[in-house]
Amino acid sequence: MRLFIAINLDRAAKRSIQMVQSRLKQHGQGNFSRAENLHLTLAFLGELGADKLPDIRAAMEETAVVPMTLSFDHTGCFGDLWWLGIGENPELAGLQAELSSRLRDRGFKLDRKKFTPHITLARQLRLGSEPDPRQLLGRPFSTQVSEIQLMESKRVDGRLIYETVNQVTSPLP
Ligand code: 2AM
Repeated sequence: MRLFIAINLDRAAKRSIQMVQSRLKQHGQGNFSRAENLHLTLAFLGELGADKLPDIRAAMEETAVVPMTLSFDHTGCFGDLWWLGIGENPELAGLQAELSSRLRDRGFKLDRKKFTPHITLARQLRLGSEPDPRQLLGRPFSTQVSEIQLMESKRVDGRLIYETVNQVTSPLP
């Protein structure tokens, strides 16, 4: 299973993100994230067996998740991957750091790269014209979050699907 831990977003936030995507679409073509796939990754675990689920769940349960506000106030890109960025947020940084440390304590290998909290808007974007960052973002917006979720990434008929792993069962004795 290809696993990651994420914060999922409510409908209103997704609608605002879709408006940013529609402005980005005016500047190029690429693989735009579908609304149901919009999320903020906190920890990417990679390909793991289902036997690791109880340890992941334990690490998630040990992590304090306080309700917080995410403010979307800039856009950026990693090469041809375009994203919406979250303004400085000590609670979010603390959550990501604590979760990562709980996972590492249980032997999971995580990326040591600096955490750049972002929502992927589009991949493999081929720009026709350069967007103006302020025009692309529009008015900054925010949303409340209070949960983290274990997600599985799959391809079904070539389509990228992210599924919440609702049921984390303990191994048989
Ligand atoms: P991305 O959107 O910036 O590509 C599911 O693939 C989620 O895990 C996505 O949010 C993706 O981030 C992230 N992800 C995929 N591979 C990753 C990696 N090697 N390191 C960190 N995050 C990764």
